[in-house]
Amino acid sequence: MNRLRDIVAVPIFQAPMAGGPSGAPLAAAVSEAGGLGSLAAGYKSCTEMTAEIAEVRALTTKPFAVNVFVPHPDHADADDIDAYLVGLRPQAEELGVSIGDATWDDDDWSAKIEALVADPVAVTSFTFGCPPNEMIVALQGAGSKVIVTATNPEDAATSARSGADAICLQGIDAGGHQSVFGDSEEDVRGFGILALLAAVRGRVDVPLVAAGGLMEGRDVAAVLVAGADAAQLGTAFLRCPESGTNAAHRAALEAPDLDRTALTRAFSGRTARGVVNRFMTTHRSAPSGYPQINNATKSLRRAAAARGDYHATSLFAGQNFALGTQRRAADVVRTLMADCADILGPTVWTSG
Ligand SMILES: Cc1cc2nc3c(=O)[nH]c(=O)nc-3n(C[C@H](O)[C@H](O)[C@H](O)COP(=O)(O)O)c2cc1C
Repeated sequence: MNRLRDIVAVPIFQAPMAGGPSGAPLAAAVSEAGGLGSLAAGYKSCTEMTAEIAEVRALTTKPFAVNVFVPHPDHADADDIDAYLVGLRPQAEELGVSIGDATWDDDDWSAKIEALVADPVAVTSFTFGCPPNEMIVALQGAGSKVIVTATNPEDAATSARSGADAICLQGIDAGGHQSVFGDSEEDVRGFGILALLAAVRGRVDVPLVAAGGLMEGRDVAAVLVAGADAAQLGTAFLRCPESGTNAAHRAALEAPDLDRTALTRAFSGRTARGVVNRFMTTHRSAPSGYPQINNATKSLRRAAAARGDYHATSLFAGQNFALGTQRRAADVVRTLMADCADILGPTVWTSG
């Protein structure tokens, strides 16, 4: 019995991808295709988030998710951050922009939660931590399912204990930020998605959504067999026409000189996986300092992307980005399902 079938017709979740890719057109297209589309509220104000929710609702009546970043207290070392930013000056000069202020903010956290309780969406998902039980209960009371993203068995257990309806397990293979609840070296434990599923599946009694490096139907089949109730894919949707992925990022995903990914804090001060480019190889030792470093590098990343320079901007993507294709989102969902059904049988979605 698939425990998420009251939300979706097929167990394909489109990963929230902040920074542009997963806006309303992509989220609506995936939900229309029977999967779960997801808006990324990260880096946005509450007003921008609610406007985007309205945009999705104008495009589809199907359920969709909104993903919110859980803020952390400001523990960063200002001297370490300043020293790191000095090293970015040559890049800033070359791009003709100033490095931004390395300010801390909470990503409009309280306003977003209040808005999502007042006007709920089908699913509210969380990244970078687990919200308190009262907040989860408030969202559930308003009619939203709550999913918390975890990268290790302990954080998955915490999320289940806090009342999450489902847990999104994110492997180290995943593109974008690792949803670690801290960001010290020890917090990034490095579980691959199959190892993480095996470590968590007997330990919690809520549905599991598996994310990290999944690109094809057989990958979806693999995680379903390994105990997941759904597969969440991000990179597989990055090149869809409905995706808001910028042109530099799109070009990088098929550039002959870029062939691997790595983890880095260089762009944001938080560990994330991206395609290895010159920015990453030049700035290897960024300190932990999110969102300060993210705020400081925004002007550089934007300017580089605007001039199509994929060596000077962030290129978040999962390990298997080279398997990505440029097809409509509904096509991606359909192909994933068809190839998965070839392996597991046609009833996997509704009665598997
Ligand atoms: C460009 C990009 C942006 C991302 N932004 C977010 C985000 O805002 N919130 C989140 O929970 N995960 C984010 N992720 C991680 C995804 O949720 C998911 O874990 C990941 O895409 C799975 O790995 P894959 O890209 O190999 O499919 C992002 C991933 C990418 C590639």
